[in-house]
Amino acid sequence: MAAGSDVPPFKVILLAETNSTNDDCLRLAENGAPDGTVVRALHQTAGRGREGRSWFSRPDASLTFSVLLRPAAQEYPFLTRFTLLGCLALARALENHFGVISNIKWPNDVLIAGKKVCGVLTETLWQGQIPTAVVIGMGVNLSNAALPPASEAVFPAGSLEGQAGLQLSPRDLLEMLLPEIWRAREELAADSLIDEINARLAFKGEWVRLRKNADAPLKARPLWVEKDGCLCAEADDGRIERFYSAEISA
Ligand code: BTN
Repeated sequence: MAAGSDVPPFKVILLAETNSTNDDCLRLAENGAPDGTVVRALHQTAGRGREGRSWFSRPDASLTFSVLLRPAAQEYPFLTRFTLLGCLALARALENHFGVISNIKWPNDVLIAGKKVCGVLTETLWQGQIPTAVVIGMGVNLSNAALPPASEAVFPAGSLEGQAGLQLSPRDLLEMLLPEIWRAREELAADSLIDEINARLAFKGEWVRLRKNADAPLKARPLWVEKDGCLCAEADDGRIERFYSAEISA
């Protein structure tokens, strides 16, 4: 375990290889690690994605890291915003540093020109009703060497280099991203956070397929994200439905 380059108030732990930085952060959280602990791995051997999927990555071609936060009581009502917060932080970093516009594909992806360049997996530790830790894990594809075989990608994948011509090291991107995570966290309770997510929402008003759990996919048009983080979408019979967990495919 080595100290990574710190971005105050974050403390970065850099690992050459690990199973999953989310698992590491959850374990550190159980052992009392403080708010702002970050684990970055050069290589993950068992990276995890949403819904039990695996997350494919490659050293130097991917940024894989997790941030451990200790939610304050005033943040408890907004836990459902943390995944979108991770997406927004990356979107802001790309726009502020490089003028690159990306979109947020609810609930947990960042797209550039229609391809997924980042996925976010948020996990929470509870003690009874109290959320004692939130772990935000982010995987960013820096170059096309990071992409999973097309047959394994649930949604078409791309990279920062392939989609926007950016050549970034994992460390440089993390140093741009962490301050944006901090800034967005300070806005966690603000309506403006959701407004900005809506301004960047992918597939707004477009007909897509929305799959809830194992149900057959529905044809629907994503319209907006609510303050509680759910997606409101219009079904093909005109009804507006709220989705708390679902997967969008084009
Ligand atoms: C998804 O798109 O399904 C979410 C992918 C999240 C991947 C990141 S990589 C760093 C962290 N550690 C993990 O095991 N998963 C997340």
